[in-house]
Amino acid sequence: MPVFTYGIEPVTDHPRHAGRGDAVHNHLMSALSAAFVRLHARLTPVAFVPEVRLHQADEPIGLWELTEGEFRSDRPPPFWAFAWAGGQGLARYVTDHPEVVAGRRVLDLASGSGLVAIAAARAGAAAVRAVEVDELAVAAVALNAEANGVRVDAEFGDILDGDAGDAEVVLAGDVFYSGAMANRVLRFLLRATRAGASVLVGDPGRAFLPRERFDELAAYDVPVSAALESVQVKRTTVWRLRAGRPAAAD
Ligand SMILES: C[S@@+](CC[C@H](N)C(=O)[O-])C[C@H]1O[C@@H](n2cnc3c(N)ncnc32)[C@H](O)[C@@H]1O
Repeated sequence: MPVFTYGIEPVTDHPRHAGRGDAVHNHLMSALSAAFVRLHARLTPVAFVPEVRLHQADEPIGLWELTEGEFRSDRPPPFWAFAWAGGQGLARYVTDHPEVVAGRRVLDLASGSGLVAIAAARAGAAAVRAVEVDELAVAAVALNAEANGVRVDAEFGDILDGDAGDAEVVLAGDVFYSGAMANRVLRFLLRATRAGASVLVGDPGRAFLPRERFDELAAYDVPVSAALESVQVKRTTVWRLRAGRPAAAD
């Protein structure tokens, strides 16, 4: 069943209607994404941050198979349907230390469900921007922000080769899970610190976190999905990135 297709063409390619066609296309995609999220995930409290409720999948495997089956391997797995350990730890920290974000412009990089962005908004951030490369995640962030009664600007796009804009605080939950991602994320985050932003990362000991670049702020035992992580609890650290001097590799 083609519930959700990224291949829908704009209404018309005629130059006079192209803009309108794009707008209709984008609106349609957003509506379909939101419907998909609502259909396959339930609004439930986050295990380690019960102050926040998210659209979460009960059982990862079924949804994973559905998205993979529907979109084949060029589709990302449904990261948006789970509160990852790194995001849970970082959201807990921001919730318990609101002064970190209060009154500041915040960027939540690779937002997934929007958990960290929502925690920042709840803690009094002046503005929160959540960036994602997965359109379903963008829809989930918007739905989840609304469900928690906060404003988050959910944005689709890959900004890793650019900068963090006007963000004063950059937050990133569980982003060091692959070598390719880690390299790009680290460079982005280092640029952000050099531009004056405070950069906090939540990480449950993923293999590609360059620990030597970070100072530890807090550590928690975070409940996780055993089906996803093969354990029920993950020791998760909240780190602050040191500005440091640029190295040739950066
Ligand atoms: C493990 S999930 C973490 C989600 C969330 N931060 C949390 O902790 O629950 C990683 C997320 O990174 C997103 N992602 C991957 N590459 C990205 C990029 N270049 N820019 C923004 N997000 C990206 C994925 O779509 C996914 O939602």
